[in-house]
Amino acid sequence: MDATEARRLHELDRTVLWHAFSQMSEYDGLIIERAEGSWLTDIHGKKYFDGASSLWCNLFGHRVAQIDRALIEQLGQVAHVTNLGMSHPVSIRLAERLTQIAGRGLEHVFFAGDGASAVEVAMKLAFQYWRQCDRPEPGRTKFLALGDAYHGDTIGTVSVSGVSLFQKTFAPLLFEVLRGPCPDDYRRPQAMSSSEACAHYLEAYEAILIEHHRNIAAVIAESCIQGAAGFVMQPKGFLAGLAKLCKKYNVLLILDEIAVGMGRTGRMFAFEHEEIAAGGVIEPDFLCLGKGLTGGYIAMSATLSSRRIWEAFLGDYTESKTFFHGHTYGGNPLAAAAGLAVLDLLEGHLGDGRFSLEAIRANSECFAKVLEPLDDSPIIGQVRRLGMMAALVLVASKETKSPFEGNKRMGKRICEQAISRGLWLRPLGDVIPILPAVTTPPQELDWLGETLSRIFQGRDFTQSPQF
Ligand SMILES: Cc1ncc(COP(=O)(O)O)c(C=O)c1O
Repeated sequence: MDATEARRLHELDRTVLWHAFSQMSEYDGLIIERAEGSWLTDIHGKKYFDGASSLWCNLFGHRVAQIDRALIEQLGQVAHVTNLGMSHPVSIRLAERLTQIAGRGLEHVFFAGDGASAVEVAMKLAFQYWRQCDRPEPGRTKFLALGDAYHGDTIGTVSVSGVSLFQKTFAPLLFEVLRGPCPDDYRRPQAMSSSEACAHYLEAYEAILIEHHRNIAAVIAESCIQGAAGFVMQPKGFLAGLAKLCKKYNVLLILDEIAVGMGRTGRMFAFEHEEIAAGGVIEPDFLCLGKGLTGGYIAMSATLSSRRIWEAFLGDYTESKTFFHGHTYGGNPLAAAAGLAVLDLLEGHLGDGRFSLEAIRANSECFAKVLEPLDDSPIIGQVRRLGMMAALVLVASKETKSPFEGNKRMGKRICEQAISRGLWLRPLGDVIPILPAVTTPPQELDWLGETLSRIFQGRDFTQSPQF
């Protein structure tokens, strides 16, 4: 691209295009023209490793031949038909496959466009369920959410979210939510062990349920990792324990796997790690999927729900049991075609095996190894990882786990360093997510590890951070 046009685009990108979660007065981002595998190429021809999988959704990297082909074939048929009153073979097949893969009584699928919409669907279904199930309990109007949760940016999902930075401006618009502690396995209360902390957190949730269960429509939780909170890892056994509590107090359970689902952690769904660790089956009433569902190609999300929920919505039209909710592009055939290709890749029916869940788990071991040396950095308090999803937690003191003062903006500065070395990362405050494509080959993972090590090597950030 010629220099004049490039300059013009940068100017428009800063002044016309309003970027998400960005202070536009200081905005100066890359403009990506094309991509291949893990590598993004900007309009100046400079290459960057996509270390955040384009905000955690680009599962297998860019330009995956099998997904490209599925989309081209679908374009030859039809790009979009509504799912209000009609359907399409590919979206029906995707719904069928999702229910087969999820099992655990999750027999129905509602499609939407983005993750927040999938969560809103689950919340509204849960709320309406208690009004029209066999034994209605209209007093169940509340949601119990986790401390520091993040479920999206619509008013409903901001209400159940607990990240104060994103919430405080909108507080007057939000509805009241019951909130438990953030089940943080790193900054645990009173120097407890992981299992003691798990029991401690679950006790807190049980106390809320004992007092309020008759008013609670559903508990909502991210599975295993609270992403936007800073990739906060829940102690092992917490999610399984929470699911048990929901059954005990007859409260519906919404699991939000928008960020962690679809193979990102080496399992199709992250809650499977909990089933393995704690034994037994977790049966959420709702499972929300998005991001990786189309391999990071096209906006699509899905809310899976159980037969118990579905049946409560059946009846004569005049009974007003219909779910009056929908999204124009819900079940879009192009997105569904990409979704089916993703499932085929993850299940090993397509591709050369590099895309399968087994291969992702094997690749996670390489990923863990390249991240290991970062543990030695004096400003990395913890290297968090589950499968191909990791984050570096920056701290002022490793011993006390105390954070840097916010105005140092350490996360932002480290990411600027990374970008100058050809590694694109996006911080969450002082936590730096590292999410390469799940299929990143070992030599590229080595490059990623070496680049990160070089950024942190030999600098005493605790004294005077300088970049
Ligand atoms: C756990 C979780 N839920 C919901 C969302 C919202 O998804 P979307 O940005 O597609 O609306 C996100 C986005 O990062 C997320 O991480």
